Amino acid sequence: MCGIVGAIGNLDYKTYLTSGLKKLDYRGYDSAGLAFWNKGKISLYRAVGSVENLASIVPDGHAGTAGIAHTRWATHGGVTVENAHPQRSWDKKVYLVHNGVIDNYKELKEWLSGMGCQFRSDTDTEVIASVIAYFLQEGETPLDAIRKAMEKLDGSYALAILFTGQEGLYFAKNKSPLVLGRGDTRINCLASDYAPILDYCSNFAALDDGTYGYMTENSIVAYRNGKNLALRFASKDKEDYVYDLAGYPHFMMKEIHEGAHVVRKNVETYFDREKKVYLFDPQLLASLKAADEVVFLGCGSSHYSSEAAAAYFNRHGLRATSYIASEWIHGVYPHLKNPYYVLISQSGETADLISCLDMMEKGTKTLGIVNAKDSTIARRSGHVLYIGAGLEVAVASTKSFLGQMALMMLLCGAVNGDTSVPDSLLEAAKAVDDVVGRRADIDAIAEGIVEVHDAFFVGRGMDFFAGEESSLKLKEISYVHSESYPGGELKHGPIALIEEGTPVFAFVGNPEISKQIRSNVEELKARGAVAYIVSSESCAKEGDAFVYRYVEGDFAPYPEVAFGQLLSYYLSLRRGLNVDKPRNLAKSVTVN
Ligand code: F6R
Repeated sequence: MCGIVGAIGNLDYKTYLTSGLKKLDYRGYDSAGLAFWNKGKISLYRAVGSVENLASIVPDGHAGTAGIAHTRWATHGGVTVENAHPQRSWDKKVYLVHNGVIDNYKELKEWLSGMGCQFRSDTDTEVIASVIAYFLQEGETPLDAIRKAMEKLDGSYALAILFTGQEGLYFAKNKSPLVLGRGDTRINCLASDYAPILDYCSNFAALDDGTYGYMTENSIVAYRNGKNLALRFASKDKEDYVYDLAGYPHFMMKEIHEGAHVVRKNVETYFDREKKVYLFDPQLLASLKAADEVVFLGCGSSHYSSEAAAAYFNRHGLRATSYIASEWIHGVYPHLKNPYYVLISQSGETADLISCLDMMEKGTKTLGIVNAKDSTIARRSGHVLYIGAGLEVAVASTKSFLGQMALMMLLCGAVNGDTSVPDSLLEAAKAVDDVVGRRADIDAIAEGIVEVHDAFFVGRGMDFFAGEESSLKLKEISYVHSESYPGGELKHGPIALIEEGTPVFAFVGNPEISKQIRSNVEELKARGAVAYIVSSESCAKEGDAFVYRYVEGDFAPYPEVAFGQLLSYYLSLRRGLNVDKPRNLAKSVTVN
């Protein structure tokens, strides 16, 4: 987590750095800070909370010819000004911002303390600054001090570094993402992702692990293992990074509105409707077909979308399983002879998934299904497919979830030669739009449960996965404790939690199993639950709380998840919470 941004050259640094941080605050928003370099001197500003808090203490028109900034998701040390970045070395020679975690920072801190070095913060980051400063004191150049520090550091880091009295913006990268941008007009930039630097640069390079170097306003020099490295710079499509509320009150609402469009876009990208042929690489399809199992790996919402996809693959005769990435690495799953691993990630930077890639033997077949272009998972997977959802800013994923499901279902259709999937997806997209158009009805339901402490989601078959995703949304943005169960499972234990007035949302999207789920709802009502049945037109009954436009049973999760997203949104709003930036979370989870 944490976002970093920096630049060197002729810029209005306050504007560049604070607006850059706003584009990165999906990576954390506990505190923010920045440092300007001016004629060898460095000025430091840090504030707890939002980037606006930081902006209010930074003087306008501050002169500077280089700057670095950081938005924090706290790992080591509480949310205080002292723990905010930039951190500096004890001798104030080295100032740096850091995204990542240093595993051996305690040993390094002891080593430096033993030599009289004093620390002001609880962070692992301050230790990095001081290790670099130690090597400077030993007579190393800044670049060699960084290289030697990298040899001492265990863990993940993207670093932007300024030195007192020494021109240049320095950088180093291991496991955490860092991209560089070359400007046309004597400016060079760096950041955790492309969004903050797109307007300032024309060519970009994502760094590989072990890279370090420095930039001046005219040049960028990079090294690995002491050897000069030729970076490959390329242009970027700005469309992929549009950061704009477009008149919506929150990014989450905007992104919910874009959900159906993302489903359609995947159909357009991966299927030629005129010729009725899929546009996936035939070799990829052949490998997927030949695999003894397709193994989906993901976290959070991306895990839930892949659970739905695995079930869909199974229902269509393909062997597939879905695992939580942070559990898969512990190896408690069967050893397969010829697996095909599919890594699902919106950000493409999720550390738990990257750990899966780290564990895989060379030659393992991997496909990344990713939203963020050129992200680590996109670059490191053997094959990559993009969901093309565009920038997703709200911490809770919405449109990307629908895009992931759509792409995986298209892939299943392509492997099986089933050309009916795209049409079903287009119907599902219409149903999503219809749900979004009736959002006032969902707000009215949210109004009735504003005071609740617990909620349940139930469903059977594909509907169950919509319940899981909706339950996660409710937890993360409305802070209501929520559980999701297959309809038949409650009576094996969790039904003990049902009290007078407990809200239960039941998804009923498949006429074949609607009888069973409705009888589960009766069991819950008999124990005092207030049931809200969300049903498809194909199985609606009088008294259902919300009936959505008909879609085939397998595609019911699309409108159902849209319902869950809107319910969570309105509940969060009605409870006076920060919809786009819920507490304790960050969008890109770059620590294990
Ligand atoms: C939930 C949410 C998270 C992410 C999870 C994986 O709304 O956003 O659960 O789905 O952190 O992130 P990605 O997809 O970026 O790997």
